[in-house]
Amino acid sequence: MGGFEEGDAKKGATLFKTRCAQCHTLEEGGGNKIGPNLHGLFGRKTGQVEGFSYTDANKQKGITWDESTLFEYLENPKKYIPGTKMAFGGLKKPKDRNDLITHLREATK
Ligand code: HEC
Repeated sequence: MGGFEEGDAKKGATLFKTRCAQCHTLEEGGGNKIGPNLHGLFGRKTGQVEGFSYTDANKQKGITWDESTLFEYLENPKKYIPGTKMAFGGLKKPKDRNDLITHLREATK
């Protein structure tokens, strides 16, 4: 349990490279891979990336992505969004999620 706390952005960058980068880009105009481009993620509702074919489950989740929703989602994506096609088991350690989200917040701006 608990919620998001500031983490180590450098460690988060490494985690992104090893756990997320095969499916996602972060930079503006980075394009969609297996997953949608994550540029501008914070403050955006689920399922908004143009040209990416989301599942209805992801589109209709209807929450806004921020530190706390990402903290919960990334622990167990399939629990937070039942029916998602994101094939990622989750980051079980809160510290890993904090580090990754701290990196994402800057790198998706
Ligand atoms: C095997 C490929 C894959 C991996 C690995 C992966 N993702 Fe995804 N991700 C996807 C797909 C596919 C979707 C769209 C899911 C859907 O439509 O159901 C998605 C959706 C998302 C969304 C929701 C985006 C939106 O616009 O609503 C976020 C946030 C996200 N991923 C973050 C991450 C992060 C952070 C990691 C690393 C911890 C990660 N993903 C790892 C494939 C992946």
